[in-house]
Amino acid sequence: MDNDSPEGLVIDNQKDGLFRVNRRTFTDPHILELERERVFEQCWIYAGHESEIPHPGDFRARRVAGRPVILVRGTDSQVRVLLNTCTHRGAMVCRERAGNARTFQCAYHAWTYNNQGELVGVPGEDAYSAAFDRSKLGLASAPRVESYRGFVFVSFNPVIEDLVAYLAGAREYLDLVCDQSEQGMEIISGTQLYSMRANWKLLVENSIDGYHGLPTHKRYFLEFLPDAGVEVQGMRIAGTAKSLGNGHAVIENPELPFGRPIADWIPSWGEAKKAELEAVYRQLVNRFGAERAYKIAKVSRNLLIFPNLIINDIMSVTVRTFFPFTPDYMEITAWALAPRGESAEDRALRLDNFLTFLGPGGFATPDDVEMLEACQRGYAAVREVEWSDISRGMQRKDPLATDELQMQVFWRRWNELITCSRPVRVREAA
Ligand code: FES
Ligand SMILES: [Fe+2]
Repeated sequence: MDNDSPEGLVIDNQKDGLFRVNRRTFTDPHILELERERVFEQCWIYAGHESEIPHPGDFRARRVAGRPVILVRGTDSQVRVLLNTCTHRGAMVCRERAGNARTFQCAYHAWTYNNQGELVGVPGEDAYSAAFDRSKLGLASAPRVESYRGFVFVSFNPVIEDLVAYLAGAREYLDLVCDQSEQGMEIISGTQLYSMRANWKLLVENSIDGYHGLPTHKRYFLEFLPDAGVEVQGMRIAGTAKSLGNGHAVIENPELPFGRPIADWIPSWGEAKKAELEAVYRQLVNRFGAERAYKIAKVSRNLLIFPNLIINDIMSVTVRTFFPFTPDYMEITAWALAPRGESAEDRALRLDNFLTFLGPGGFATPDDVEMLEACQRGYAAVREVEWSDISRGMQRKDPLATDELQMQVFWRRWNELITCSRPVRVREAA
């Protein structure tokens, strides 16, 4: 393999059941540049949830695909994703993380934009010539913005296929998350922001990795849960893994020991809660039939929407996204998603679950951070030990959640984009 070429970084030997990834993919700045250009610039990237900005004027400022953006609901009620850079000389016009505003005024020379992005005020406008056209100097928008059931995505590729087509089989799994409540789902206010000294793809792998659950999170499964009165005897992580097309994948595990605030009761929650969750379950059966209700309520799932959105629908629903700054550093943002209008008690239970396992100070995330940073530190020996092995279960007919099919799915798509062998599909001409 030539050092500048992205060819040959993934070995996908289906005949012999071997799958290997070159560790340069985690360390090389040139690969990160290619990822920006061929992955993050090309795909649909999660920007936020409509419930975060319920009222006209509500906004959230954040980074998406490396850009500063403002996710905002205009006075006209339309959701936009505006680029947070002044068209005068570039300063970020919104420096608050969240709020409600009719206008954004740049702090540098006070150009003012309304919450639909139009430039509405330029101090001393008489100094400009007739060619200065204020109507062309509004805040730019991401070229494509689409949402699916409240999940807002952007793409910097103007010709990419529509979001629903891009989601492919992942759409059905998003539906299983969204159908948990008749009133719809909402992001609970509050954001987890943290970072890791590790490559972003390590977190993709880790978020859909059933194999690491017991060894890495021994303390949670074998000490904390039993201490909290949860029955873990005979517990197995024995679910399944599926490719969902376009690099998306899911692992699913039925009836894990931790319980789900959506209608999967465990004894440590008490008898009163049992009756309540059974009632919720009956409603789900009435709405969707027994099979789908079971999937919605009793099956936990970790869903990857390629390239960098994870929905962990387990003991709470975590929406997690992340972006690399350097090959060995990423920032992660996570939110809790919950049924609108759930009782205060259920909300408290859900938040407790959200923090206890997946919170940055919980029982799982610090363990994962430690392991991912340990991998990254191990890659200092990349010249001597070039390859990581991701072959587990490769020849199994029905792959398990503890296999590595879901990671192979990610890496195959990554490799196709990086080597330009199968680019993102474009939208059909209107
Ligand atoms: S950079 Fe914003 S007004 Fe000058
Ligand atoms: Fe983990």
